[in-house]
Amino acid sequence: MQIKTILSILVAAVMLLACSSESPDTSAPTEKSLYDRMGGQKKVKAIVEDIWNNHSANPIVKDRFADSDPAYVKKRVFEIFAAASGATDVQYNGLDMKAAHKGMNISEMEFNAVVDDVLAACEKHKIAQQKRNEVLAILWSVRKDIVNSHIITEALVN
Ligand code: HEM
Repeated sequence: MQIKTILSILVAAVMLLACSSESPDTSAPTEKSLYDRMGGQKKVKAIVEDIWNNHSANPIVKDRFADSDPAYVKKRVFEIFAAASGATDVQYNGLDMKAAHKGMNISEMEFNAVVDDVLAACEKHKIAQQKRNEVLAILWSVRKDIVNSHIITEALVN
């Protein structure tokens, strides 16, 4: 590469940097929350209903919920889904994820099965790919608090 080309790339980079730091955006955020973009309470409640249905039919995890009260679990899952996706009018009233799943010896495979159930429910309700990716990122963020660290595969530890 010629020295002139390198110099013009450098100048362009410096100009770009200068522009980006020129006027900091002090306006209030206008972007809607994931919760609102997904369709708010009605839609998220319908998705949670299907998450429960999917878990109940999923051979990998259904036994985990055999003794659960469906209404209780759905209420808590709605609350945490809503709160984590930015709802401002819903409060999560349950245990934190570490405490809720303590001593359950949950495996990576079970975690993935639950993630699949959640994403399948979102897909059924026509939640677009980009938003499903955001849901996946939220689920992934709590993985370490749910999966038993002693049975986690080494490749996923770091
Ligand atoms: C993927 C992320 C997950 C989230 C966000 C999540 C969320 C929750 C929430 C909010 C509760 C209620 C906590 C409370 O009682 O206050 C709960 C309970 C529970 N979770 Fe999870 N969970 C996840 C993954 C899993 C996995 C992988 C399993 C095992 C297959 C599992 C099994 C259970 C069980 C058995 C309960 C107790 C239900 C009951 O009270 O009867 N969860 N979870």
